[in-house]
Amino acid sequence: MHTETIYADSTGDLRAVGEKAADVLRSGQPVALPAETVYGLAADALNPEAVARVFEAKGRPAHDPLIVHIANRDQLRQVADVPEEIEDVLKQLRQEFWPGALTIVLPKTDAVPDSVTSGLPTVAVRMPADPVFRAVLKAFGGPLAAPSANRFGRISPTSAAAVEEELGGRIPLIIDGGASKEGVESTIIKIEHVPNATKPNFHILRPGPVTIEMLKPIGRCKLPGKNRSAEQIKVEAPGQLDAHYAPRTPLRLIEDPADFTPEEGKRYALLTLDGGKKSKMMDAADWEVIEILSPGAGKLPEAAVRFYHLLRKLDGMDVDEIIAEAVPTHGLGIALMDRMRRAAVGSGSAEG
Ligand code: TXA
Ligand code: MG
Repeated sequence: MHTETIYADSTGDLRAVGEKAADVLRSGQPVALPAETVYGLAADALNPEAVARVFEAKGRPAHDPLIVHIANRDQLRQVADVPEEIEDVLKQLRQEFWPGALTIVLPKTDAVPDSVTSGLPTVAVRMPADPVFRAVLKAFGGPLAAPSANRFGRISPTSAAAVEEELGGRIPLIIDGGASKEGVESTIIKIEHVPNATKPNFHILRPGPVTIEMLKPIGRCKLPGKNRSAEQIKVEAPGQLDAHYAPRTPLRLIEDPADFTPEEGKRYALLTLDGGKKSKMMDAADWEVIEILSPGAGKLPEAAVRFYHLLRKLDGMDVDEIIAEAVPTHGLGIALMDRMRRAAVGSGSAEG
C-alpha cells in the first residue's frame, strides 16, 4: 500500500486537511494523525471493519482495547453511559482537563463495537486538544478510535517521520502536524464512587501528562500495584501489564548508580535527565553516546516531550545496551518511569 503524507499547519486553516482525512475514514480506512500526547492511528470507532484495520496495521492483539476520541458532549453520550453517582465528578474532570491528555474509563453504550473495548463493558474516552486532531473529528462528525501509531509493543511515535518508520506501507494516510507537544500518552483513570466520602477514588491505570498532583484536588489517586493483584490489574487495565514502548536494543533502567558496572568491550548509550554534575552516571562508563532528556530548563515536561524521540534515536545507533537513568518520581516523572520500566521489560527482541 502506498502511504501518503500530508502537512498540516496547526496555526492555519485546517478544514481541507480535515476533509481529506474524513474521506479516508468514511471509506473505512485508518489515518495516522497528531495528538498532543503521541501520534495516533484513527478509525471510525463505530465501524467494526475500520477498527479491525487498526488492529491489523499495528499487529495489535485483540485483547488490548482502544481509546475513543470525541469532540463534544453529544459524542460522549453516544459512547458512554455515565452512572448518576459520578456525573458531578465527571463534569469537574471535563471542565478541568478536556480537551486534553486525560482518558476516562466509563461504562460503554451498545453503539461501541466490542472490538474497540476488547469485549469489556467499559470504554476509555478522551477529548483531544491537538488542533489537527480536532479538525479531523469535526470534519468526520463522529467518535474516532485511536491507539498510538506504532507497531504493537514498540516505541510510540511523536513525529510523522516516526509513524512512517512504524506503519509506512501499511496505512494510506499520515497527517504531519509537527512534534507532539506532551510527548507521552494520556493519563488513564477509572472513577470509583465511594459512598459517604467527600471525594471519589481515581484508579490511575496509566500515568501520564495529567499528573496525580493535578488530579488530587478532585479525587483520591490510587496507583496500580498497591493492594491489587496482577489479575485485578489485567482486568481493569488491559494492555498495561505487558512489555511496551520497547526498543530493539536491550535497555536497562538504573535507579541506583551503584547497580551499574560496565562490562569490558560492551558499547553503552546513556539516557539521562540533565547530564549535570548531579548525575552520577556521567562518569560511570566510557559512553558511546549520551542523550540528555532535558538540556534546557524544562526539566520533566521537556524530558517527556523528548523521551520517545531520543529512545528511537538511540535504538537506531550501533550500541549493545541503552542505560536509562531514573528520573524523579513526582509529576511527569511518574509517567516517564512507567514508560522506562516497560521499555526495559520488552527491550532487546527483534520481533517485539
Ligand atoms: O495519548 C493517548 O492516549 C494516545 C493518543 C493517540 O490519544 N493513545 C494511546 O492509545 O495511547 P493506546 O492504544 O496506545 O493505549 C490505550 C490503552 C490500552 O492499552 C489499554 O490499556 C487502555 O488504553 N484502555 C483502553 N480501553 C480501556 C478500558 N475499557 N479499560 C481499561 N483500559 C483501557
Ligand atoms: Mg500504545
